[in-house]
Amino acid sequence: MIIALDGPAASGKGTLARRLARHFDLPHLDTGLLYRATAKALIDQGHNLSDPAAAISAARGLALTGFDEGSLRGREVGAGASIVGAIPEVRAALFDLQRTFAQRPGGAVLDGRDIGTVICPEAHVKIFVTATPETRATRRALELKERGETFDYDTILADIRKRDSLDATRPVAPLKAAEDAHVLDTSMLDIDAAFAEALAIVTTHAKAG
Ligand code: CDP
Repeated sequence: MIIALDGPAASGKGTLARRLARHFDLPHLDTGLLYRATAKALIDQGHNLSDPAAAISAARGLALTGFDEGSLRGREVGAGASIVGAIPEVRAALFDLQRTFAQRPGGAVLDGRDIGTVICPEAHVKIFVTATPETRATRRALELKERGETFDYDTILADIRKRDSLDATRPVAPLKAAEDAHVLDTSMLDIDAAFAEALAIVTTHAKAG
């Protein structure tokens, strides 16, 4: 079974994907890490984030293993991921890695922005996870604080709104719910309640496979 989760920044899709993967004993790919790792490579090499040639070459050099998640979760790398993710050739360079992962025997859980629309249009179940920008900003501020990166709420909310707009308006693979996705609004749900809803969606709606 392939489970596709998409949604905007800090909507909770990553946590839900991890928990669904554990529940169904499936491998999980957080595809945001690929875009984050591409951005991090550019930052480390001193390249401009909107230098397409450098971004494409960084994306082509990625493999699915060996991500240092700790160094990829910060605010600067997240914002950079959104910039490199708007470059069509970067998305093309990362396509096969994601497809190969999705087609593992037995299936997989993938989360990102375009899993249900571009990477796995044939997924057995698609969930589009949303929450209000304010809820997401509160969650992201907490997450960054736990990493030792403290920013005021308004800065994070502005980041979230900017990222939503970049992700939703780019011409290639914009963030949007697939027509056959089930929308899960987690604004009023804690993580256990959101997981219970996600699990109900999967068990009720997953196509055979
Ligand atoms: O958790 P958060 O949404 O902040 O970050 P993420 O899921 O790691 O994604 C970071 C950025 O990578 C997003 O803002 C997108 O621009 C880009 N991305 C993408 O374009 N396509 C994906 N499948 C996953 C991430």
